Amino acid sequence: MSQRANRVFVTREIPEAGLSRVLAACDAVVWREPLPPPREVLLERVVGCHGLLSLLTDRVDAELMDAAGAQLRVISNFAVGVNNIDLAEASRRGIRVGNTPDVLTDATADLAFALLIAAARRIVSGQDSIRAGHWRTWEPLGHIGVDLIGKVLGIVGMGRIGAALARRCHGGWGMRVLYTDPNRNHSAEKELAAERVDLDTLLRSADFVSVHTDLSDSTCGMFDRAAFRRMQRHAVFVNTARGPIHDPAALHEALATGQIFAAGLDVTDPEPIALDDPLLGLPNCVIVPHIASATVASRNGMAEIAADNLLAGLRGLPLRCCVNPG
Ligand code: GLV
Repeated sequence: MSQRANRVFVTREIPEAGLSRVLAACDAVVWREPLPPPREVLLERVVGCHGLLSLLTDRVDAELMDAAGAQLRVISNFAVGVNNIDLAEASRRGIRVGNTPDVLTDATADLAFALLIAAARRIVSGQDSIRAGHWRTWEPLGHIGVDLIGKVLGIVGMGRIGAALARRCHGGWGMRVLYTDPNRNHSAEKELAAERVDLDTLLRSADFVSVHTDLSDSTCGMFDRAAFRRMQRHAVFVNTARGPIHDPAALHEALATGQIFAAGLDVTDPEPIALDDPLLGLPNCVIVPHIASATVASRNGMAEIAADNLLAGLRGLPLRCCVNPG
């Protein structure tokens, strides 16, 4: 079968760097609306498809795979995280699943650091105070934040992105690095003198706690009331991984009662966050709309890998980045 005979559904417009290759090679339909396809549209558009290029906003489960049909060979997710896909179900059916790692590592670590420093130095509440007309003079006691130099960074999930943030904080700010991870990261231990500790030790010792783990049954709700209570009162919490890893009510309580100093979030649960969510009313919570990979190079790189994964899967070849190689 020629590649052009392969039917593909692309669930949103992605950068041309990848999209043009998919359109040239396949019989592809692209959902070009600004919002994701509603569930019933997704279920209808995948019927008869050999490949699916999905986003983290699309739930790809057994129902969807059933709707597509037995010819579905590859799911190429335009994201490094694949928690939106039922991997066990895809593997059981022999469907290969691809993701887009590496190309977004630096952009994500940069954003985690931006959130860390913005929350620590009260940058957003400072800007809000100007806009509200409250800047009357230079204040010796106003807008006091926390220092970064020589502090302790706690990384939860020392993979590529966790290590990239640790490199910035250790090299640039002389921070001591603690981490938790089911696996040892030997290069982080060697290069950054990172110490693997248990979560309790990390929470009690770190001045900055940054989350870089996958969302799974074991990490969902990991940052609950008990976790925030173990953190220091001057601590800053950063989450650029997935929203459900922290309990929003517990985080609100910790921030509102001064159990921790501040938080910086790129991810929320749900997304988008509701406009009346109490976290949005807190001056010590900086929130941005899941933009960690939103740079030109990262998004182009993601599009290229997503296209490579899709086209390889359609040809029955190994994917460039496969999360269930079989
Ligand atoms: C973004 O959150 C991603 O997983 O790529």
